[in-house]
Amino acid sequence: MKSVVVIGAGNMGGALIEGWLEKRSVICVDRNLRKETQAPNFKQFLSMGACFDSKLPSDIEAVVLAVKPQHILGVLDEVAASLPRHIPIISVAAGIPMGALTAVSPAHLLCRAMPNTAARFGQSLTGIYAGNLTDAQFEVVKSLFEVVGPVEVLRAENDMHAFIACVGSAPAFWLEVFSAFEMSASELSGLDKLQVRRWLEASMKAALKTLASGVEPADEQKRIASKGGTTEAGLRALGDSTLTASIRDGLVACQNRSIEMERQNSVN
Ligand SMILES: NC(=O)c1ccc[n+]([C@@H]2O[C@H](COP(=O)([O-])OP(=O)(O)OC[C@H]3O[C@@H](n4cnc5c(N)ncnc54)[C@H](OP(=O)(O)O)[C@@H]3O)[C@@H](O)[C@H]2O)c1
Repeated sequence: MKSVVVIGAGNMGGALIEGWLEKRSVICVDRNLRKETQAPNFKQFLSMGACFDSKLPSDIEAVVLAVKPQHILGVLDEVAASLPRHIPIISVAAGIPMGALTAVSPAHLLCRAMPNTAARFGQSLTGIYAGNLTDAQFEVVKSLFEVVGPVEVLRAENDMHAFIACVGSAPAFWLEVFSAFEMSASELSGLDKLQVRRWLEASMKAALKTLASGVEPADEQKRIASKGGTTEAGLRALGDSTLTASIRDGLVACQNRSIEMERQNSVN
């Protein structure tokens, strides 16, 4: 089994670790003891020094930096001092551009990847910007992320901002919408929360299945909302322009924050 080193086992690193443990040996560095797994293919170190001083296996595919953006460059500096140059380093941080990464470690193979926490269940779409990887190393990185879901190659680094909004952050938006549904539906019916959750999950699955079949959302809405019926009344009350405006505000705020963070972390 090949190995991957993950620095930072918090929300994102922890989800990647869970997803990878099926198919990889994972060596993790986190200054907090995060995972209590007995899996024989999992090793944890509390410091980078201890990790790199140990006898690392020779089949390490990549090192993944999954610490907060403000810690990434310092951690990269430490990793680069100990890591052989042929092993790619992947940053999953939002807002840290390639230029800042390569300025810290010009000699290493570096790239950016943006997964989401559904990596835990093998359901994360991951966007990868290849940075300065060779084609061969890019294939290694791509196949590593394919263990936790599909992969999309981002040709331009600038596309990362929208990807972060739509894929890294938007799962939290969908869950916000779901919570709003759940709260309102419970009030409606007086039914217990678990029952309402089951109903709403089923309706969400129905919508997702419809999308996956290639049907346009507006066409299916017309099919569901028969004239003078319940759906038509509901959609009218929902006021789709307010909903669209709120969602646009959320996505734009995510994207703008990513752009702002990159500007702050750019090297000129
Ligand atoms: N959360 C998401 O959904 C998501 C999605 C996509 C990408 N990302 C990216 O993933 C990165 C991590 O985010 P997160 O939410 O997972 O953060 P997090 O939960 O804070 O996890 C980071 C972990 O790394 C540890 N750490 C920091 N510096 C360290 C060091 N020098 N040595 C060892 N461990 C160190 C932290 O310890 P302390 O707590 O003690 O600092 C923490 O346990 C960010 O760059 C973010 O942009 C996150």
